Amino acid sequence: MKNTMTMTDNRDGKSYEFEIRDATRGPSVVDISSFYGQTGMFTYDNGFTSTASCESEITFIDGVEGELRYRGIRIEELASKHSYLETCYLLLNSKLPDETELLKFDLELRHRSLLHENLKNLFNTFPTGAHPMAALSSATAALSSFYYSHLNIADESGYQEMARRIIAKMPTLAAFAYRHSIGAPFIQPDIERSFTENFLYMMRAYPGGKMHIGINGEQKIKAIEIKALDTIFTLHADHEQNASTTTVRGVASTGAHPYVAISAGISALWGRAHGGANESVIKQLEMIGSVERVDEFIARAKDPNDEFRLMGFGHRVYKNFDPRAKILKTLQDQLKNELNLDSNLMNIANKIEEIALSDDYFISRKLYPNIDFYSGVILTALQIPKPMFTPIFVIGRTIGWITQWIEFKKQKGNKIARPRQLYLGK
Ligand code: CMC
Repeated sequence: MKNTMTMTDNRDGKSYEFEIRDATRGPSVVDISSFYGQTGMFTYDNGFTSTASCESEITFIDGVEGELRYRGIRIEELASKHSYLETCYLLLNSKLPDETELLKFDLELRHRSLLHENLKNLFNTFPTGAHPMAALSSATAALSSFYYSHLNIADESGYQEMARRIIAKMPTLAAFAYRHSIGAPFIQPDIERSFTENFLYMMRAYPGGKMHIGINGEQKIKAIEIKALDTIFTLHADHEQNASTTTVRGVASTGAHPYVAISAGISALWGRAHGGANESVIKQLEMIGSVERVDEFIARAKDPNDEFRLMGFGHRVYKNFDPRAKILKTLQDQLKNELNLDSNLMNIANKIEEIALSDDYFISRKLYPNIDFYSGVILTALQIPKPMFTPIFVIGRTIGWITQWIEFKKQKGNKIARPRQLYLGK
């Protein structure tokens, strides 16, 4: 027998029954797809705070327990024992790769990391100083014209090929967007370098040079830099039905090209309530300027008449702590020790966290540091320029978007995303 929920319209006493569907983890859902048909009314849920928009088997979040799993594996385990590429393989294939599978996957990505030469023309149309997110979103949309056959993918090998291509090219696209934004010549990917090291190389290298710049003026990229960035990619890899992923699924529902859907996801991510928060966090820490001024800004964040918000605090789903922020806090402490950093920004960030975690305003609203609070601090320690923070989020999240796109396409009976409205006009 099916579990149901009965709803009564208190105006006329009529009752309506809806099926309850259980999840394998987390809250059940009430299937209201027949709501309009039965009642002649729509449901209203501003910001989708109580709405499950799809079925999914990819990522699970328990916001109360502060739990995040990709394909059933906890984020703490993935971040400590596995690389970003292993995580990508897991998301795409529902299993971690063995050694041979990983080697093959890694090579397949290396071989797809080049961009078509014509794309350089597109980057060159942007003014110097253009934000890399603008160029990244445009160039990703433009990729759809180079791989037009992906519009009609119908089999597993087609999906896998399309996914590898976009994952492999995203670091190159992001690095090109950055190089153009500062008026520097493009650096092609180096097939001998790993995924994450290659991205740092493309951002920092001199044309033709064997030597490139690590942090603190070093000639080589340090292993700890690569490990830190790889962890950041892993922590960003997927996050259930967030705003940008919902955008990607929405575009997928219209039948548009997968790379255009990813481009729409990139645009959605740019906003400071979403992925743009990591850049805003650092701008805010710089504006605060010193540990002594933290109290003043905490007071502003609490003032209902002031629009100021603490960037990197709060989350729609996590109401206990963001497990990704915990991992990054530990990573920050490691970097501080190993790279001998004495960062004023780190000290301000730590002070804000300390005060906010013991302040009733933040406790009662369940506002904790989120992933963006610490990713910005760590990327600053890695001497990554601020405009590249959100493109780095994009590189990490591309696997999530494309896996969600594939899941959407493979599910039978998915409809075009077409919500209705509560009309209040004339
Ligand atoms: N600083 C001060 N007050 C806050 C903050 C903050 N960062 N975030 C929420 N509040 C208050 C808000 O004013 C409201 O108070 P009241 O009940 O008195 O009106 C209450 O907390 C609930 O806020 P909300 O805006 O209704 O919550 P939401 O779930 O709609 O928004 C959020 C979640 C992440 C957009 C929001 O917390 C925020 O704007 N945070 C700062 C931006 C940020 O860090 N974004 C990154 C999110 S994590 C990564 C990602 O998703 O990309």
